[in-house]
Amino acid sequence: MNDDLTSLFREHLEIRLEGIAEDLRKTGYAALVLASGPQYFYFRDDQPAPYRANAHFLHFCPWEGPGHLLLIRPGKKPFLATLSPDDFWYEPQRIGDAFWTDGFKIAECGSRKRQISEITKRLPKGRSAGIAESGGVSETLGLAHNPPALLTRLDWRRAIKTGYEVECLSEANRVGAEGHIAADAAFQDGGSELEVHRAFLAAVGGLEADLPYPTIVGLNEKGAVLHYEGKRPHVRNGRSLLIDAGARVRGYASDITRTFAASSAEDRFRSLIAAMEGAQQALCEDVRAGRPWAELHHEAHLALSGVLKDENVINVSAEEAVESGLSRVFFPHGLGHFLGIQVHDVGGHLADPDGRRAPPPKEHPMLRSTRTLEPGHVLTVEPGVYFIDMLLDRWRNGKNRDAINWQAVDALTPYGGVRIEDNVLVTDTGPRNLTREHLP
Ligand code: GLY
Ligand code: MN
Ligand code: MN
Repeated sequence: MNDDLTSLFREHLEIRLEGIAEDLRKTGYAALVLASGPQYFYFRDDQPAPYRANAHFLHFCPWEGPGHLLLIRPGKKPFLATLSPDDFWYEPQRIGDAFWTDGFKIAECGSRKRQISEITKRLPKGRSAGIAESGGVSETLGLAHNPPALLTRLDWRRAIKTGYEVECLSEANRVGAEGHIAADAAFQDGGSELEVHRAFLAAVGGLEADLPYPTIVGLNEKGAVLHYEGKRPHVRNGRSLLIDAGARVRGYASDITRTFAASSAEDRFRSLIAAMEGAQQALCEDVRAGRPWAELHHEAHLALSGVLKDENVINVSAEEAVESGLSRVFFPHGLGHFLGIQVHDVGGHLADPDGRRAPPPKEHPMLRSTRTLEPGHVLTVEPGVYFIDMLLDRWRNGKNRDAINWQAVDALTPYGGVRIEDNVLVTDTGPRNLTREHLP
């Protein structure tokens, strides 16, 4: 057993239990039951879809399997009632001696009936809450189902990572970095999208279903498809590769993007990658407590417009490009998002823990966070510029067509685009780039 992990997790659980005790008090509930969630089966089929636990459950308890229930009562050890029936078709999952078990009282139950009875006899007097994907458990136990006031408080807290969570995210970056190094090598060898994907997966060392999100492996013009999921086996010796792929460690994700040029690539594309690298690193340096994320997003638009001007892709100043909306043609997504158990982690649009909303500004509807940065926040910083015909065509045929250097755009379109994405922790003393500790 890993002693460091044990003590980090103990501290994590203590912080989270203190938080939930306050949240239950403020929302008027006596206790909380978290359900890890069901196993899905495809329609009229006995084949299961890949399983993913309820993230709120995982946040308290890293035992990832379907059907478990966790009872949290202020001042008491959390009670975990697993669902682990004897079964000779599937291997029953037994917890054994894991790093996190000290913090829990555990009953490994052979049936739902036993689980419900174990929880029922421990439920305190008064109204308790249930957080689960569907209402069945809450109904059976007589719980308030997914009360929004409690959910928003849990979401709010999840944005501030504990030391244990930072360790998980850092490790997810270390593992993800190994995948990226292998993927780059496969690309430089002329590999197809499928081969690059497999190289990533082999280096990360798990199943595809263990990845936090489907890999995005785009050769050439496919780099411009923001969430490209194809894996063309027949296209080889690419000019460029945009790979967005991460790893998952104890339920926590990394979300990393790199863009590479092959030796055959034109200088202007290499130059664009280098300029984007400079802009991305400068933005990472600005991930500091007290900065509103929307402000950094605006700064990213100015910085990327500056890159496009310097690289002779646009003919107007950075300020003009942002004001006219031109920057959104090349950079149509947000600067980044909270990262944690969920890749696009929760709580980005909350103004406070009571659930007041802070929606993204009208001109940037894709911005996934509007919060002001605090120590403990972990965000992706992922500026990108792309050559997307669908977005460019309106300008090509519009009255401001001269704002764009079409000769440069047409030369760069076959390369798709450039995105560079790191995962950055806000600390009291400045940004800590969890990705660059493992990957150039
Ligand atoms: N991998 C999805 C994203 O970067 O948000
Ligand atoms: Mn990504
Ligand atoms: Mn991302």
